Order: sequence, then structure tokens, then C-alpha cells
Amino acid sequence: MSDAALPIQASPEADILSALGARSIVLVGMMGVGKSTIGRRMAIRLKLPFVDADTEIEAAAGMTIPEIFERHGEPHFRDGEARVIARLLDGGPVVLATGGGAFMREETRTRIAAKAISIWLRADHDVIMRRVRRRADRPLLQTADPEGTVTRLLTEREPIYGKADLTIASRDVPHDRIVDETIETLRAHLCGQAAASEPPADVASAVR
Ligand code: S3P
Repeated sequence: MSDAALPIQASPEADILSALGARSIVLVGMMGVGKSTIGRRMAIRLKLPFVDADTEIEAAAGMTIPEIFERHGEPHFRDGEARVIARLLDGGPVVLATGGGAFMREETRTRIAAKAISIWLRADHDVIMRRVRRRADRPLLQTADPEGTVTRLLTEREPIYGKADLTIASRDVPHDRIVDETIETLRAHLCGQAAASEPPADVASAVR
């Protein structure tokens, strides 16, 4: 057998990379589900660049997200967000963490479907509340009743997040466990292989 015919070293990461081709991996889901944390770790595993849409929007605007909301309002933020995500998706394969509202825009979903595999990191209301309480810089949650706001946003958004190609249950287990599950689910999706194991027992709902 010539060298060229030798199979590349089998690993889930190598399988995913070759099946992805020029496509990116895009993480979607509510604030606080861990899109950036999991995305950063996935990027290291896959040896792809990691980009965070919120950080890129702030860099492009020269302002923080709260400042953009305050000075220009949410519609302006959403337009900038859509433009930044379009640019990032044109830039070659990356792992991209999007802000919680980005996937609500149809044009952005269409772009993501054309250029990426999307993964919804889904967490339940209590997990989200515990996590978003740690940071006070999310303009949408500066309301008299943040819990009620999260409930309303989840009701509006979950049917749309559910349009993502894959769903992973984000919960309070070590990050690397979520990363392992995501890698295995991605490989099963992209390479047509059955996932190596059953969904973990602590995943309350079958989310695949
Ligand atoms: C938003 C989520 C935030 C940020 C902005 C709006 C949303 O990003 O884009 O505050 O609409 O859910 P994270 O999901 O990274 O917190």
C-alpha cells in the first residue's frame, strides 16, 4: 500500500475535521448555557480557531454590549450581530459561540445551515438562572423579574433553538464531559456512525 492510501489516524477529532471540510461548528442556545466555555474546549480538541460572536461585535463596535444596547438599542445590536456572524462564517472553519439571540434571526439560521453544523446547548431554567446570576452584564436580564424574563425567552426561543442540527444537554457536570459528548455526537452525525454509548443517565430528556 502506498503512503497516500494509508488511512489517517483514526480519532473522533480527525473524523470530524475531515467530514467538516470548510464548514464551521456553531454553538447556539440561551445565555448561561456555556457556549463560550464548551466552544473554547471544542476548538482546542479539534485544533480549530475559536471565535466568540459577542467579543467580535464588541471589537467591531468599539463598545461593550451593554453600551451598544444603551446607546443604539437592541435592533441596532441585532443588525451588527448578524453582520459579524456572516463575516465569521465566511472566514473558514472555526468553532463559533453565538450570543443567545443570534439564532432567532432567520437570515442567520440560513447562513449557519449553509456554512456550518449547528449545536444547541440546552440547559434547563434552574441551571440557566444559577449561571446568569454570576454576571450582571446582560442587558436583556436587567429587568424587575429576571426569572420571568428567562422563562419568557425560553418559551419563545426553544422551538427555534430546536432547529439546530444537534442538541446537547448542558448541565452541572465537568465541562470535559459535555465536550466529550459533543465530539461523539458530532462524529455520529457527520460520519454516520452510531454514537459509541447511550445518552448519559443524568440527561433527563432524550435530546438527540
Ligand atoms: C443575548 C445574549 C448575550 C448577548 C446579548 C443578548 C440574548 O450573549 O449577545 O446580551 O439575546 O440572549 P450570551 O448568550 O453569550 O450571554
